[in-house]
Amino acid sequence: MYHKQHPFLASIKARYALTKLGSQKNTQHLILDLRGSGLSYEVGDSIGVYPRHDPDLVAKTLRALQATGLEIVQHKQTGELFPLREFLTAKANITDISPKLFREVHARQSNLDKKHDLEELSQEHNREVFKAYLEKHEVWDFLLSHAEVHFTPQEMADLLMPLLPRFYSIASSPKHVGEEVHLTVASLEYESNGHKRRGVCTHYLCELVEVGEPVVPIFVQPSHSFRLPEDPHQAMIMIGPGTGIAPFRAFLQERLCHHQSKGKHWLFFGEWRREYDFFYEEDWEELGKLGHLRLELAFSRDQEHKVYVQHKMWEQGEELYRWLQEGAYLYVCGDAQRMAKDVEAMLLSIVQEFGQKEERAAREYVKQLRQQKRYLRDVY
Ligand SMILES: Cc1cc2nc3c(=O)[nH]c(=O)nc-3n(C[C@H](O)[C@H](O)[C@H](O)COP(=O)(O)OP(=O)(O)OC[C@H]3O[C@@H](n4cnc5c(N)ncnc54)[C@H](O)[C@@H]3O)c2cc1C
Ligand SMILES: NC(=O)c1ccc[n+]([C@@H]2O[C@H](COP(=O)([O-])OP(=O)(O)OC[C@H]3O[C@@H](n4cnc5c(N)ncnc54)[C@H](OP(=O)(O)O)[C@@H]3O)[C@@H](O)[C@H]2O)c1
Repeated sequence: MYHKQHPFLASIKARYALTKLGSQKNTQHLILDLRGSGLSYEVGDSIGVYPRHDPDLVAKTLRALQATGLEIVQHKQTGELFPLREFLTAKANITDISPKLFREVHARQSNLDKKHDLEELSQEHNREVFKAYLEKHEVWDFLLSHAEVHFTPQEMADLLMPLLPRFYSIASSPKHVGEEVHLTVASLEYESNGHKRRGVCTHYLCELVEVGEPVVPIFVQPSHSFRLPEDPHQAMIMIGPGTGIAPFRAFLQERLCHHQSKGKHWLFFGEWRREYDFFYEEDWEELGKLGHLRLELAFSRDQEHKVYVQHKMWEQGEELYRWLQEGAYLYVCGDAQRMAKDVEAMLLSIVQEFGQKEERAAREYVKQLRQQKRYLRDVY
């Protein structure tokens, strides 16, 4: 039986870009092979993935440590022994500076100017500057800028945080795809401190892993609440910009291909450009033609001003409110920091405007939706 502590080694059966050539994004569709795993999942669940670091990043970290990688270190939690290179690749977080590492570098720094700078950074009034400093550095370039400080391989192993799994919303229904699980992964790439940085797990899944090799450690992370309505014919409104689209592909496969749902389905999708970033376009068009899906699109960078999913909700506010009054479920998936907050604010405005309610009553209405488990979110 495979689980979080004993992950299954899946192979990537297929991997292709959802963004078209010329896009400024790189979002990919991945199909993982579950044959032989005995793993089962439901739509609304996520997959946990234990990534491995890029060998180039590990090599830079080893150079900064003046180590060969062959040194043996002990994992402080499990007691297991690893060559340092393997430990840095699979067990340690080498992209984020742990508070312990920061403190220890400060304590051991012999250059008084640099020591003073580190001290200043950690003062309460410099909280934002400190945060920006940490975000700008990975372990290797932090160590290089404090080359006066030395650590033994074991000291370093003890100072690093563990490499944690990442989660991906499942984009398939097992009833439709069998022993596979599909994911929608936005590969992260950006520049900081003059260096190109890559998201650890997205780079691992989208670039590093060879297709067909059974090497990706995964487990199923069940959702307790992000579930289809019990009634397979109840109407659904789905708000899923960017990778937030993933679980709705799974929901629609399950409802339409498996349950032959007669319910209404309304999907709001948004991305940068229609020409390059319209994920799963053919699937939605097909469902639309069959009369199963109503689609609302918000491409934010196809015009001067930003158009987001919540603007489309507002344009259709009267009807959206009517659907809710008739019992529809409302789902939101994707970015938590900005999108989900703004979508909720728009939902409140719609309830106020089209339900003719004061702000307090509108808040109570949304609270009720939540309590009835008809307003469900999977945001990250
Ligand atoms: C329940 C759940 C479901 C999820 N579903 C999906 C999904 O379906 N698809 C998907 O792609 N992701 C999904 N995620 C997000 C996913 O788990 C990872 O967080 C994401 O893929 C990034 O992981 P990474 O290892 O590639 O990046 P990391 O190496 O963890 O790097 C991410 C960090 O990079 C930094 N960063 C990012 N952009 C910039 C920038 N421009 N400038 C400076 N710093 C920056 C930020 O500090 C950020 O925290 C989900 C998360 C959760 C919790
Ligand atoms: N930390 C960050 O700064 C940052 C930035 C981007 C993404 N992310 C994360 O990266 C992952 C992948 O992102 P993604 O590829 O799924 O796409 P995404 O960045 O969520 O973008 C999808 C669409 O949502 C739009 N959007 C931006 N702000 C919005 C808002 N307030 N309300 C509604 N829509 C909004 C984007 O437009 P515009 O981009 O044109 O504004 C884009 O058209 C997610 O985990 C996300 O949280 C983090």
